[in-house]
Amino acid sequence: MKKILITGGAGFIGSHVVRLFVNKYPDYQIYNLDKLTYAGNLENLKDVESASNYNFVLGDIVNGDFIMELFQKEMFDGVIHLAAESHVDRSITNPMEFIMTNIVGTVNLLNAAKHIWKDNFDGKRFYHVSTDEVYGSLGETGFFYEDTAYDPHSPYSASKASSDHLVRAYHDTFGLPIIISNCSNNYGPNQFPEKLVPLFINNIRHNKALPVYGKGENVRDWLYVIDHASAIDVIYHNGKTGETFNIGGHNEWKNIDLIKVLIKVVDKKLGREPGSSEKLITYVTDRAGHDLRYAIDSGKLQKELGWEPSLQFEEGIEKTVDWYLENQEWLDNVTSGNYQKYYDDMYKDR
Ligand code: NAD
Ligand code: TYD
Repeated sequence: MKKILITGGAGFIGSHVVRLFVNKYPDYQIYNLDKLTYAGNLENLKDVESASNYNFVLGDIVNGDFIMELFQKEMFDGVIHLAAESHVDRSITNPMEFIMTNIVGTVNLLNAAKHIWKDNFDGKRFYHVSTDEVYGSLGETGFFYEDTAYDPHSPYSASKASSDHLVRAYHDTFGLPIIISNCSNNYGPNQFPEKLVPLFINNIRHNKALPVYGKGENVRDWLYVIDHASAIDVIYHNGKTGETFNIGGHNEWKNIDLIKVLIKVVDKKLGREPGSSEKLITYVTDRAGHDLRYAIDSGKLQKELGWEPSLQFEEGIEKTVDWYLENQEWLDNVTSGNYQKYYDDMYKDR
C-alpha cells in the first residue's frame, strides 16, 4: 500500500488531483496536507472525504518541524506538491507570503523527503507542480519549451522559479528522485473567483463591472483543470526521474476575446441577449509587470507519455460556466469573510 502526500489538495487544481487519485487508486492512501488559506476549501472534496483511502491533514508547509514530524510519522512513498500562494496580483501587494510558502515551504518538503528516504530512493518520487510563468513573457510568436531559459517577472513567478531551481538542486546534489511539470493557465470548476475566468462569470451574472487590465491584449494558453490533473497522473507514474514536462492546451486566447466568449455563453444561459453584457467591460489600469503572452509547447509530454487534452475549449467553457452558475452557494461561501475587502482594495484605484 503506497502512501502519497498531496499538498494544497483543498485548492483549485489540488482538489481535482486528490479526487482523481482517491478514485482511481484504491490501493494508495492519499494524504491531503493543506493550510486552508483563503484559497483552500474542504467543500471542494465533499464527494471523497469519507473514502477509506483519503486522509486530511491540516498544516502549514512553512513550519519545518511540523513537516519533518509528519514525514517521520507517515513515511510517505511519494509527494505531489501543489501547495502555493498562486495569485499574481496578491504577490504584487504581499510578496513575502509567496517567498515563505512557495520557496521556504518547498525546501521544508524537500528536506523531509530527503531525510526519511535516506539514500534509498527505490519507488520514491517527489513531484513538484509548477507554472509556465517561470519562463517569462513571449512576443507575438514562439513557444515555451522545457529548455527555455527562466525569466520570471512577478513575485509569484519568481518564487515558483526559485522553487523549481531548488527542486532540481536537490536532485543534482542529493539524488532526490524529483520530477517537475510547468503548466499553462487552468480553468474549470472550483477556482477561487479572484482569477479571471470565475471572477468574470460571477460578475457577468451579477451585472458588475468587468475589470480588463490594460487593453485586454495579453494572451494566455488555457487548459481545462481536469486535463491538468490527468497529465499529473501520467507524469507521476510514467515520467522519467529528473525530467521536466510542459503541460498546455495549444489553446491561446487574447484576454478580451476570451472575455467576449464568456459573456456570450453566460448571457445565453441566463436568457439574456448574447453579447449584451459587453457593456460591463471596463478597461482599468494594467497589472504591473504584466506578461504579454504565454504559450506552451507540450510536444514532449505528448510524444514521450502519450498525454493529450481531452476537451475542446468550447466544451470546457460550457462546462465551466454551467458549474459556476449552478454553484452560486459555493461562490458565496468562498467569497464571504475577507474576500470583499480584498476585492475593494484590489480594484478601488484602477
Ligand atoms: P490555489 O491557490 O487554488 O490553491 C493553493 C492551495 O494551497 C490552497 O488549498 C491553500 O490552502 C494551500 N496552501 C497555501 N499555502 C499553504 C501553506 N503554507 N501550507 C499548506 N497549504 C497551503 O492554487 P491552484 O491554482 O490550485 O495552484 C496549485 C499549484 O499549481 C500551485 O503550485 C500553482 O503554482 C500551480 N499552477 C497553477 C496554475 C493555474 O492556472 N491555477 C497553472 C500552473 C501551475
Ligand atoms: P489570472 O487569472 O490572474 O492568471 P495569470 O495572471 O496567472 O495569467 O489572469 C489571466 C489574465 O487576465 C491575465 O493576463 C490578467 C488578466 N486579468 C484581467 O484583465 N482582469 C482581472 O480582473 C484579472 C484577475 C485578470
